[in-house]
Amino acid sequence: MRHDPYGTGVLTKDNPAEDDRLRLLEVALDPVSRAAVDGLPLPAAPRCLDLAAGRGSVAYWLAGRFPDGEVVAADIDPRYLDPTAAPNLEVLPFDAREETFPDASFDLVHTRSALKHLPEREEVLARLVRWVKPGGWVVAVDGYWFPSDETANPAWAEVVQAVVDRMTAQGGDMRWTRRLPALIARLGLADVSVRLAPSLAGWDGWGAQHHEWLRATVEQIGPTLVADGLLTEQALHRFLATPDGPDLAEWFGLVAAVVGRVP
Ligand SMILES: C[S@@+](CC[C@H](N)C(=O)[O-])C[C@H]1O[C@@H](n2cnc3c(N)ncnc32)[C@H](O)[C@@H]1O
Repeated sequence: MRHDPYGTGVLTKDNPAEDDRLRLLEVALDPVSRAAVDGLPLPAAPRCLDLAAGRGSVAYWLAGRFPDGEVVAADIDPRYLDPTAAPNLEVLPFDAREETFPDASFDLVHTRSALKHLPEREEVLARLVRWVKPGGWVVAVDGYWFPSDETANPAWAEVVQAVVDRMTAQGGDMRWTRRLPALIARLGLADVSVRLAPSLAGWDGWGAQHHEWLRATVEQIGPTLVADGLLTEQALHRFLATPDGPDLAEWFGLVAAVVGRVP
C-alpha cells in the first residue's frame, strides 16, 4: 500500500474531482466553522489565519466579515485559493509540518479537516497555539468517524472501514478529534468549548451536504481502496449502487469545533 502524505496520492488536487469534493466539504462544514467564530469576542480588525485553507471558503468569509482586518489563507497546495478574492486576503504556500509564523501574530487561527491527516498533528497544534496573541482564539474543526461496526448498513460498514484504514495507513487518525479538547486544554488554552454536529449520510433529504461529500469521497478513492486490497470491487459497487432513502439515514461521525482562548 502507498503511504502518500495527505494532499498527494489519492487525494491530490491533480485529480479534477478533488475541487468538487472539497466544495462539498465546505458546504457541509462552513456552518460549523462560522458558528464557532461568530461567538468569539474578537477585535474589530483582527489578524486571522486559516491554516490548510483548501478552497478558501472560510478565509473568504473571514475577509468579508472583518473588512478592516487581515486574513492569511495558508495551504501546502494553494492552487484552489484566489488571492484576488478580497483586498485584505493573503494566500500563502505553507507546509504546516515544517514552516512557522512568528509567535503571537494572529488574533484567530482557524484550521479544519487537515490536522487529523498529518502524523505531526500534535506538534502542529502546539505550534499554531504559539502563533496566537494573548487573548486570541484557536478554532480547530475536524471530523470524528464512528467505528464502522456501529452502522446497521453492512454495505457502509465495509466502505467506512476501508476509508479509515487507508487514511490510517498514510498517517491519519480519523478518531483524533475526540481528544482535541483535552489536547487544547493541555496546551494551556482557557475557555475551551466544543460544539458537535452530526455527519449525516444515507439520504439526501436530510443532511444532504455530508451525504454528497461522503459519496464523492468514496467515488474518488474507491478504486485505490480496491487496488490496495482494502475493499472488494463488489463492496464498492454495492455501496455506490445502494439507493438513498430515509431508512438508510444515519450519522457516520461527528464534526467537532473545538475552541480555546490563549491566556
Ligand atoms: C480536507 S482539505 C480541507 C480544506 C479546508 N480546510 C476545508 O475544510 O474546507 C485539507 C487541506 O489541507 C492541506 N494540507 C495538507 N497537508 C498540509 C500541510 N502539511 N500543510 C498545510 N496544508 C496542508 C491540503 O492541501 C488541503 O487543502
